Amino acid sequence: MASDHPPGENTRAVHLPPAPVPAQQPLGTPVYRTAAFAFSSSAEYAALLSGETAGYSYSRIDNPTADAFATAVAALEGHRLPGPTAAQGFASGMAAISTVFWTFTGAGTHVVAPAAVYGGTYGFLRHVAARFGVQADFVDVTDLDQVRAALRPETRIVYAETVANPTTAVADLPALAEIAHRQGALLVVDSTMAPPVVCRPLEHGADLVLHSATKYLGGHSDTTGGVVSGAPGLISQIRAVRIDTGGILAPDEAFLLRRGLETLPLRVRRQCSTAMLFAAAVARHPAVRRVDYPGLPGHPGHQTAIRLFDAGPEGTRFGAIVSVTPHGGRQAGYELADRLRVGQVATSLGGTHTVVSHVASTTHRQFDDAALAAAGMDPGAVRFSIGLEDGEDLIADVHQALDALAGHGDGTEPDRAELDRTELAGTKLSGAELSGAELSGAGEAGGGTAGRLDGPGGLSGTPSLGSREERA
Ligand SMILES: Cc1ncc(COP(=O)(O)O)c(C=O)c1O
Repeated sequence: MASDHPPGENTRAVHLPPAPVPAQQPLGTPVYRTAAFAFSSSAEYAALLSGETAGYSYSRIDNPTADAFATAVAALEGHRLPGPTAAQGFASGMAAISTVFWTFTGAGTHVVAPAAVYGGTYGFLRHVAARFGVQADFVDVTDLDQVRAALRPETRIVYAETVANPTTAVADLPALAEIAHRQGALLVVDSTMAPPVVCRPLEHGADLVLHSATKYLGGHSDTTGGVVSGAPGLISQIRAVRIDTGGILAPDEAFLLRRGLETLPLRVRRQCSTAMLFAAAVARHPAVRRVDYPGLPGHPGHQTAIRLFDAGPEGTRFGAIVSVTPHGGRQAGYELADRLRVGQVATSLGGTHTVVSHVASTTHRQFDDAALAAAGMDPGAVRFSIGLEDGEDLIADVHQALDALAGHGDGTEPDRAELDRTELAGTKLSGAELSGAELSGAGEAGGGTAGRLDGPGGLSGTPSLGSREERA
């Protein structure tokens, strides 16, 4: 400011002293809530924009708080990989997903995706990318022959979900990676339902792993975001398209998501343990036609999950999404969801609250009846995202809702095939794990004989619930 012309009050107000830049690393993540960054000269600005120097110019291009989140996710996803892992944050999971397709597909190219893919991804491929000449085939990706048969010379992406939403089908990632790579295509994995303390798809051959960070990574249902991780060369291509399409992660959201990561293992480990016993308890209720949960030994993806998923002292972490299909079709599904008192009918998943949604009318409303059937989804299915409540409260809650529904059943026990899908033989669980307050034994994945179900709606043997006081 020229000394012979004292600045007026408005100029002084706008040109306040800048905030200090501390030499000490803050323990919490600073929120850079700024759209733009200042330069000491036009030459400095030009050098940064041309990539000669590193730094920040404009928050649609890069923002330090968004980078703090992305870097943290890259570290979690890639911590066992020999080479570097990079990541980019996005405004939502769909912004991340669509940017991956915008980056690696174009008119005349082809994608193989799961028939049971998340409804938003299905809608994007069917109704948006298709208008730009990208073709997609939707197949059962757990059937590798179907994947091979769907490949074309112009296939650029084989797309999978580690655990499908809401069928809970488990993808054989190494096998899919081999098939994709033989074709010269990328394996892109949505691992929203299996965050990096359950599975890290890059370790199993995936080229890119993405998340709706809105779910487990944030973990508190209070922010939306997305993130894609992979080798730096792929991520820099994604960043370039992200800059042009604009689906950036805002700094406040990035702060919340970054903070959520610090409790990811604590939350997800407890949610997985509760989900295991919840699934087992629900499966034997006479009003229940079917339970889909990878932790149940009869689940088609059970062995794949044991092979690919992390195991802690509590055993394998099979995720915390349980799909429950009552007898009685669509109406029974509505009623089951509506009769819950602890579980809440709400959008989203992966947060502290247990939330439920009737699948056919919510997350998969984009699916017509044929697509629902092809994806193996029942119109009555209700998806439970198990939260951090006491497991015994969740089980009592679902039992009272199912008891009220019992009239929808045929009055008999579920048939033998269904029981085979739901027996718990081979899991290592205890009441303490249900509470999540402590973890039992040194279980290895799938070992032991505890946890057999006994009688409708009840558990006998090792999985006892105990009282809340005992477990405190
Ligand atoms: C598996 C999966 N992928 C992607 C998304 C989309 O994420 P977002 O809602 O953050 O855009 C969701 C949202 O429910 C999801 O469940």
